[in-house]
Amino acid sequence: MNEQLARIVQEAEERLGACGSQAELSEIKVAYLGKKGEITQLMKGMKDLSPEERPAFGQLVNDARARVEEAIEKAAASMKSLERERRFKEEEIDVTLPAKKLRIGHSHPCQRALDEMERIFVGMGYEVIEGPEIEYQDYNFTKLNIPEGHPARDEQDTFYITDQILLRSQTSPVQARTMEKGKLPIRMISPGRVFRSDSIDATHSPSFHQVEGLAVDKHITMTDLKGTLTEFAKELFGEDTKTRFRPHHFNFTEPSAEMDVSCFKCHGKGCRFCKGEGWIEILGCGMVHPNVLEMCGIDSREYTGFAFGVGLERIALLKYEIDDMRLLYENDQRFLDQF
Ligand code: DAH
Repeated sequence: MNEQLARIVQEAEERLGACGSQAELSEIKVAYLGKKGEITQLMKGMKDLSPEERPAFGQLVNDARARVEEAIEKAAASMKSLERERRFKEEEIDVTLPAKKLRIGHSHPCQRALDEMERIFVGMGYEVIEGPEIEYQDYNFTKLNIPEGHPARDEQDTFYITDQILLRSQTSPVQARTMEKGKLPIRMISPGRVFRSDSIDATHSPSFHQVEGLAVDKHITMTDLKGTLTEFAKELFGEDTKTRFRPHHFNFTEPSAEMDVSCFKCHGKGCRFCKGEGWIEILGCGMVHPNVLEMCGIDSREYTGFAFGVGLERIALLKYEIDDMRLLYENDQRFLDQF
């Protein structure tokens, strides 16, 4: 019996010494001290011994059990410290490695172009006013001197919601809304989304953005329009930018014009960017039509004004040299990251 115990203890100690995992440790523990474990079996076998033999044998088994328990504890402790060492190694940080590049968000090219335009006009004393995207046809057309049945209504391929309500096809209705409020003088710009039933291509989209501008005061003349818009163009595209005004037609202005800027790539010589013209068209403008002033409750004998409308995407495309409008809407991270 004695020998058998010594062998069991030795074997347990050897196994524990070589034990390499928590699972193996539990297995060994069960094999010796569990309900059916070797030492437990020996203890159970004591009932078959004579009363004289029992105390001495009991003592031996208890000693053996204590030794195995001690060996288990030792093995558990050494495994714990090995595990800690392993984790330390694994989690070791090399502080000399270069840091990960931080990705910081930034504004969309359209937003940047708008911020720039707002900065320029606010600097000249203009207010930024927004108007509704769902609009009455009255504001989108009638009050802008485009009466019902006028062909100019068809030119703007409008999305109608009812016969009176539509998705605005231009930001110009905000002019009428602002004039109607009756607070004079007016210096405002109005950026916003507009809608036209155009199909999508490199220069068209059913939804895009415009920035409207309006100044109404006593004694405003075409010279103010030209001076203000030329100053704007210089700020936006560079000090040496020149402007020219070509006669045009808009119902809500008289006279009306389109403004070109000298090509900021070739400075007027003619290149691929300006299609050999030397000039790039950037906006429509004109002196507010007296009919429009009157329909909005302003005395056209006392007050005059100028107005303009710029396509925001067009400015962003030009300023950041992007050749396809669709890129602005797709939000491809690889494209946006360049700005
Ligand atoms: N609303 C015009 C358009 O969508 C742009 C425009 C032209 C606005 C001349 C104006 C203006 O205020 O005076 O084509």
